[in-house]
Parts: sequence; C-alpha cells; structure tokens
Amino acid sequence: MDSVRKLPKVSLEILDILKINPGGVDIYAIRESLSGSEVQQHLDRRLRELDPFYIIERERKGKSTVYKYKGERDPEEWPYTDIPKDVRARLLEEAKGTCQMCGRTVSKDNIKLHVDHKTPKSLGGDSSEDNLWVICSDCNEGKRNSFISTDKISNYLDKIHNKDINELLRELPDNSVDCIYSDIDYNVGIKYSGKRYTKAFEKYMSDYIVLAAESTRVLKDNGSAFFINYPKNNAYLWVQYLDRAYYDVQEYVWVYNSNIGHSPRRFTTAHRSILHCMKSKENQFYKSNVAEPYVNQTDRRIRRLMKDGSKGRSPYSWFYADMVKNVSKWSKKIDHPCVIPSKISSMLIKSVTKPKDTVLILFAGSGSEIDVCRKLGRHWISADLDSEYCEKIERKLDEYIITFEEKNNDSC
Ligand SMILES: C[S@@+](CC[C@H](N)C(=O)[O-])C[C@H]1O[C@@H](n2cnc3c(N)ncnc32)[C@H](O)[C@@H]1O
Ligand SMILES: [Zn+2]
Repeated sequence: MDSVRKLPKVSLEILDILKINPGGVDIYAIRESLSGSEVQQHLDRRLRELDPFYIIERERKGKSTVYKYKGERDPEEWPYTDIPKDVRARLLEEAKGTCQMCGRTVSKDNIKLHVDHKTPKSLGGDSSEDNLWVICSDCNEGKRNSFISTDKISNYLDKIHNKDINELLRELPDNSVDCIYSDIDYNVGIKYSGKRYTKAFEKYMSDYIVLAAESTRVLKDNGSAFFINYPKNNAYLWVQYLDRAYYDVQEYVWVYNSNIGHSPRRFTTAHRSILHCMKSKENQFYKSNVAEPYVNQTDRRIRRLMKDGSKGRSPYSWFYADMVKNVSKWSKKIDHPCVIPSKISSMLIKSVTKPKDTVLILFAGSGSEIDVCRKLGRHWISADLDSEYCEKIERKLDEYIITFEEKNNDSC
C-alpha cells in the first residue's frame, strides 16, 4: 500500500504499540511508549490517520478510551478510495477552504478537509457528485459514527451516562432531541474545587465548536439549543460557528448576585450569557408556559390581548436569579461547585418543550437540570465525565421519588 508509506512516522510507531498490546492501550500509555518529545500533541489525529488502512477499535473504559488493533482494512471498504482525482480536486477548490457541514475554515480554524460521501458507500451511497461534499475531519468522524450507530434514542432516555459527552453525542441519531442544554465548564485556566482547568483558549474554543456542531446534528429541526457560558466564550462561539449553522441566535443574560468584587479597577462580572439557537424558523416556542403577567392590565390593547387568550408577555431577555447555595433538597446532597438555579433552567426548558419531549443535558454536574426535567415531565438524557457525580445522581434518582404535588406545581 503506497499511501501507508506516506503515514507520519508517529502514526506508524503508534501502530506498532497497538500491535504489541492486543488487549488495548489508552492514550496515556501510547504517549508514554512513544519515543520523540514532539509527539506529545495531536495523538488523536495521528490515530485517525491509521483508520483508512487499519481497523482500530475504540472502547470506552471508565474515563478513558482504549484503542485496539484489529487487523488490516480492506481498501475497498474505506469511503475515500474511489473518487476520481480530478473530481476530488475540483470539489475541494469549490469549497474554498470551508467545511460544508460546520462552516469552519482551514485558514481560521486549522481544520483538514476531505471529500466525503454523504451517504456512506457501505449503506449504498454512490460516488456521484450529488452524494459528495467537502467536510472536516471532526465532522466526518461524527457523521461516520452516526451512521454506524443503530441505537434508537429510546435506549438513552432518562439515563445518566458516565462518559465524555462528545462520545455520547456521536452515538445519538440525527434530529432526535427537542432541546439541547449546555452548561459546559467555563474555567479556562482557573482552579476550583481541587481541579485545574488549564486548556489554552484556542483549544477550549475549538472543542466548544466541535461540541456545538455535533449538537446541531442531534437537535430536531424545530428544536432549540441553549449554550450557557461566560460572555467572551459565547461571543466566540456565536461568531465562529453558530451564526453559520443556525437560522437564528438570540442572547439572553442570567444576572446573579456576587458578594465579592473581582477587581478594584473594573466593574464586577455578575452575569452569564445564554445563547438560544434556533435551527429553523419553525422553532417551537411555548410562550404561554413562561408568560409573565402584563403590568398595566387596564391598558386597552392589553385588555384586548388578554381577551384573545394571552396569558401575558414573554419574559425579558435578562433573568435575575441568585447563585445556588447548597441548601435545596436536591443540591445539598450533591455538593457541586457550579449549580444553575432551577428558576433559570426550568424557564428555558419550559419555553421550548412540552411534556414528554426530550432534553439533552450535555453536562450533568449536580443533576439540577435532570431534577427539573423530571418535575416538568420531560424526558432527559445526560452525561458527566465524573463517575462520582454520576453515582450521586443515580442514588438521588432512586431515593427521591417526585411527589404528585411537586409535579402538579409546575405542570406546563
Ligand atoms: C458547569 S458543570 C454543570 C453544572 C450543572 N449545570 C448543574 O447545575 O449542576 C460541568 C460538568 O461537566 C462535567 N464535564 C466536563 N467535561 C465533560 C465532558 N467532556 N463530558 C461530560 N462531562 C463533562 C464536569 O464534571 C462538570 O460536572
Ligand atoms: Zn466540519
């Protein structure tokens, strides 16, 4: 195989490591066994470069992925092989360096583009130009896995999955959830609760964009995604990705109290950004679930609106809620440093879903949003990397059965 010889030296070294460890190795063991120091980065990419030629199985064990060598791949099986060179070159030129799935570009986002089959060859897709497009490696990986996945969404409902959310997302079918709710860790380079978050900003942002792109695929066409984060992280996500991928994006603000000032030289940050991403103009929005009473109910226009059945106006785009102290029935059992007040999560979830709809909560944390979904009668799917949080949530779910009154209190 000529092209195998073109593989980077590091990929070939990784291949040797995999071959002598038939039981599988994780990325840390691979890193330790490699000789050069320049190879400390991009090992995922080096591993992916082996995929066209070798079958490398990936299996999740606890918090890490274990890679296993399973033999050589039949070259016919790999989807890139039969696209004529001139067609490939022309399509790449026409794409002008932009991924046709996520909209990121080679120049700004350091992605690598491939000509790819929309419907894989293994599922009957042909190599006509209608079935070809130019996408980046990350989108390709996600798409391939989504085709491989035969799992139905119902297998995932109302369960907490102790795994990397990126992996869970890849398993979920296209257009399968009504709402995506993301409260990712925002602590770039900050230490809290004994853990350190030291990702460089660029790496943090490129991971955030990949997460958002996979979320877009899994979200139903009439669904909404909410991305909660510090303003700067969300500003980058909005400009670098969301604007191209969504029909409409609106920003809301959660305003909270803060006892301590952050600096004697500037105002104290006491808000978070919430981006509301609507996939199409058919987005579901249940105004009556969240409406607030009109202030001036004697006004003639308002009287008319109320007569026509309006329950009030949509809330403003900013919401005030105090930070959660660990005193509520749920959160005092699960000590977590950054719980979103249920007043906020419940309003967001109610505004875009109805009972029995499915909410994908990307990062479970304390499970506060899971609790909200249960009380609102929404199905939920969630993941957290931390096995301790997952266990605590599972224990709570068993222990704390929601009472009829609790359900009825908040039943829209
Ligand atoms: C900001 S907290 C979520 C808090 C949550 N909104 C609440 O109210 O309790 C983020 C959580 O994501 C988890 N996490 C971080 N990276 C993850 C990943 N790649 N996959 C799954 N969970 C992850 C962390 O363990 C943490 O519990
Ligand atoms: Zn892409």
